[in-house]
Amino acid sequence: CLWVRNLRLKRRLPGPFAWPVVGNAMQLGQMPHITFAKLAKKYGNVYQIRLGCSDVVVLNGDRAIREALIQHSTEFAGRPNFVSFQMISGGRSMTFTNYSKQWKAHRKIAQSSLRAFSFANSQTKKAFEQHITAEAMELVHIFLRHSTDGRYFDPAYEFTVAAANVMCALCFGRRYGHEDLEFRTMLKKLDKFGETVGAGSLVDVMPWLQSFPNPVRSVYENFKNLNEEFFSFVKDKVVQHRESFNPDVTRDMSDAIINAIEHRQDSGLTKEFVEATVTDLIGAGQDTMSTAMQWIVLLLAKYPDMQAQLHELIDKVVGQDRLPSIEDRRSLAHLDAFIYETMRFTSFVPVTIPHSTTSDVTIEGLHIPKDTVVFINQWSVNHDPLKWKDPHIFDPARFLNENGALDKDITSGVMIFSTGKRRCIGNQIAMVEVFLFTAVLLHQCSFEADPSEPLTLDCSYGLTLKPLRSRISAKLRGKLLGVVS
Ligand code: HEM
Repeated sequence: CLWVRNLRLKRRLPGPFAWPVVGNAMQLGQMPHITFAKLAKKYGNVYQIRLGCSDVVVLNGDRAIREALIQHSTEFAGRPNFVSFQMISGGRSMTFTNYSKQWKAHRKIAQSSLRAFSFANSQTKKAFEQHITAEAMELVHIFLRHSTDGRYFDPAYEFTVAAANVMCALCFGRRYGHEDLEFRTMLKKLDKFGETVGAGSLVDVMPWLQSFPNPVRSVYENFKNLNEEFFSFVKDKVVQHRESFNPDVTRDMSDAIINAIEHRQDSGLTKEFVEATVTDLIGAGQDTMSTAMQWIVLLLAKYPDMQAQLHELIDKVVGQDRLPSIEDRRSLAHLDAFIYETMRFTSFVPVTIPHSTTSDVTIEGLHIPKDTVVFINQWSVNHDPLKWKDPHIFDPARFLNENGALDKDITSGVMIFSTGKRRCIGNQIAMVEVFLFTAVLLHQCSFEADPSEPLTLDCSYGLTLKPLRSRISAKLRGKLLGVVS
């Protein structure tokens, strides 16, 4: 009887037939997260596919994902030992390394330095807010310039530069101009980062492809180069910080990390981890943030009535004589609702960074062995029909209660920052940043899509989903304001 129970508990994982050599690689399609959700309808929320030489377990739906990442948090906290992951942040990335005592120490340092320069006290909060507002106003000027004579433009790169600048201001105490060609070129290359590390990328699971001259090989080479270039940009700045380091004055996050790693006996990390931590933080906060902003502006242009309602609300709460601030957030629940709905609806980080199991584990009665690659389909949580009414409809009002206030139980159901031991450490920073960027842009501008092209939500797949075409035009509303320091 016990034997039968054990057998049932350790059922083989269901999943589609896997072809020799490639496995299910050719079945993923252009949008693997949608394919994963479709396969879940047939095989259940926990199933196995094969990609090249790797067995991969795919988790779908709110219940299975939370059971894995929260109830079995340690077992699902690993990262696969993919070759591409070792090319990131000089081989010492915290984000792309497996679960270990060292990873825990590294994550703690990254987390506490981030906090120290964002929400530690009212002074850091104010400084952080000023960085964001200044970047947002810089964007307003650039957008208006690009829109002269009713022209339309794609704001993608400007958002990339702005997001990178907020992180550079925190990490290095300085920003780089939108005209800085070296900075722009590096960020443009970095834009391709997510294609290689996104779940379903094939370079790591078909290593034999590297031995042939083929597109996959060049993906690897480009990936290696872009990581080296980005790492050496950060390393330069960290070396300058190390040379002028004064233990009594912490100028920025680089100083805080140097202090935590090099000047404390028990950090457990060597000094090379400083530049790796800074590289991780700038990298993590850049692609995600700029993608978030691209979708927000695109959806504002797609739903002009919603945009008009937000304009009206901002005018009422903030007025024309000052810019919105973080204190206004309480009174701008509709704006937060629009942001949460953008995150849910687009699920622009559709699948988390790949996880791996740190020991054997059983979930929903299915046995998963140690060191199995795990994909976590966030899109399926955000479109789970058991959880959301009409999940395919864009409706910010779903997050508001009858008094027009944000319903925290509903907003916490959105999964875009993942959950459990590997959840995003920039969650709070990101929400403040997205809110302020959007509030300032809306306060100053209205956005319109190019009427000569159909406005589509088509996107490319990678770690983030990026809109393919988003040509917009910005118009000044009221007066152009300066930043109050
Ligand atoms: C990891 C989402 C912004 C730092 C992650 C993960 C997701 C995510 C899905 C992977 C979690 C997993 O594998 O289970 C986002 C989104 C953002 C955002 C949607 C913006 C809207 C930021 C920012 C920072 C940051 C601004 C830093 C300042 C990190 C780090 C990790 C991470 C360091 C790795 C955590 C680990 O592996 O332990 N983020 N993120 N993120 N994020 Fe974010």
